[in-house]
Amino acid sequence: MKDRLERIVILTGAGISAESGVATFRGPGGLWEGHRVEDVATPEAFRHDPALVQRFYDLRRAALGTVAPNPAHMALARLDAEWPGELLLVTQNVDDLHERAGSRRLLHMHGALKSAWCLACDGRFPHAGPLAGWPPCPGCGARGRLRPDIVWFGEMPYHMPRIHDALLMADLFVSIGTSGNVYPAAGFVDIARESGARTLELNLDPSMTSDRFAESRLGPAGSLVPEFVEDLLRRR
Ligand code: APR
Repeated sequence: MKDRLERIVILTGAGISAESGVATFRGPGGLWEGHRVEDVATPEAFRHDPALVQRFYDLRRAALGTVAPNPAHMALARLDAEWPGELLLVTQNVDDLHERAGSRRLLHMHGALKSAWCLACDGRFPHAGPLAGWPPCPGCGARGRLRPDIVWFGEMPYHMPRIHDALLMADLFVSIGTSGNVYPAAGFVDIARESGARTLELNLDPSMTSDRFAESRLGPAGSLVPEFVEDLLRRR
């Protein structure tokens, strides 16, 4: 294992936003309990019933106005501001709570609710309102071509080369609030561990990948993450 502690990669999932009131995907009350993934989160679903898919994401985008970052998001933003070494925060979440907390070194690997992707000009644009009314593309003016800029099942997650490079170089890999059901994110721990990084999981329950981490701490992100950040910055 590497002795130095300079380069950190952090992966977050729906669990980090749960205490803000954003529904997770799996488990009781999860988004995938109320919806079939294949009806709303695949390119086929969008071809088959675009209005349904637009409404599903419009509701989730609108709901962002009712939630706020919690102490876990705030602690990671503090780490971003104060950590002198390399840091990369990779989120699977499509909410904007990391950026609203102040994180800057951040990649959204599964896209973002507040972004729209034009299928006519291939541009991506900040977008806050609904898409169900098919507003024109702010870049090319095309109508009926803006889709949610969300990575659906069967599509390629964003920023993979950059994330892969950071994992290979990482001294510490931390996974927070993710069930480890969805690849490639669920495989990040293996890349980091095989490259000699320390690996730590912070999650409410044991995940599908817990046994692949050197250390797992169980509890709510709202208390585990601030403790972890405090400890890391003290030992720096
Ligand atoms: N603190 C920490 N962890 C929590 C909390 C909390 N307060 N509440 C829930 N969790 C944990 C759960 O125990 C679970 O392991 O967060 C995890 C959430 O798992 P999922 O709902 O499966 O979410 P995630 O892992 O982010 O899903 C991955 O699946 O559907 C796709 O694209 C979607 O990005 C998503 C991907």
